[in-house]
Amino acid sequence: MEFTFQQQEIRQWLERRRAIMLAHNYQPAPIQDVADLVGDSLELSLAAAKTDAEVIVFCGVHFMAETAAIICPEKTVLLPRTDLGCCLAESVKVDKLLARKEELPGVPVVTYVNSTAAVKAESDICCTSANAVRVVNSLTASRVLMLPDQNLGLYVARHTPKSVEIITWEGWCNVHDGLSAEEILEFREAHPQAVFIAHPECNPEVLDLADAIRSTSGMLQYVHEAAAQEFIIGTEQGILHRMRKENPGKVFHSPSRRLICRPMKRMTLGDVLSALKENRYQVTVPEEIRLRALQAVERMLAVPRD
Ligand code: 13P
Ligand code: SF4
Repeated sequence: MEFTFQQQEIRQWLERRRAIMLAHNYQPAPIQDVADLVGDSLELSLAAAKTDAEVIVFCGVHFMAETAAIICPEKTVLLPRTDLGCCLAESVKVDKLLARKEELPGVPVVTYVNSTAAVKAESDICCTSANAVRVVNSLTASRVLMLPDQNLGLYVARHTPKSVEIITWEGWCNVHDGLSAEEILEFREAHPQAVFIAHPECNPEVLDLADAIRSTSGMLQYVHEAAAQEFIIGTEQGILHRMRKENPGKVFHSPSRRLICRPMKRMTLGDVLSALKENRYQVTVPEEIRLRALQAVERMLAVPRD
């Protein structure tokens, strides 16, 4: 693929700064195309930890860059803009969480990686949408507080033993939760051959209609391996760029024009260039918070895979 002038300039600056550029699956296409690695949020942070690059330009939202800063404090993590919040991560305030923990003594807190470092630091263990069921099962607890995503919590409750009570939090991703069952039913009527894959952040009525429920990385794997040729993708539209690129010949539809994460779409090539030239905006986590947040992430990583 030919790079544009701006993309070439980014590649030159990455080399000059001994930097690596990581992009989330929801990023705009020109950002994905020039990045060293495109992936889900945890995949990118783990890649950040492995690289010998000194600088990481993280193209995603704030909590994702923060996770990279938690995992690799010796590296410079740059987030090219300051307005990249995630409504789901921001739905938990630490004081509210502390109050809820007091009401639920001894109940383990399982926190989705879509959360701030300060909230991870108050949690027993983290999870992703790909491993949430496995993480809860690993705890052998009869009650678990899951945050922040209520839809993910309800999904986990359906896939873990009835003897485990999942206490959810009032948090949602507006992008995924906004997708309606009516939209899916309409879309399916127009594309009867298509397989519908949903992200667990979608609401339960939408999940009930899904042929498969997967995290973003799980969706990419699913469409690659499936014999089906046509898919309806129940997550943010940015992922369709990678699906089409990696699966020529297969057809991908987004069921709603509202499946767009605004903060993800704010990132421009110009922002990335300025970040590299001006070393901005550095994401750091106070050491006392970082160490406790890291513990929650590491506990998750220690949960054996099936
Ligand atoms: P992943 O962790 O699967 O990349 O998803 C992140 C996200 O923001 C989902 O909305
Ligand atoms: Fe946050 Fe939703 Fe955007 Fe994911 S899609 S980053 S959960 S607002």
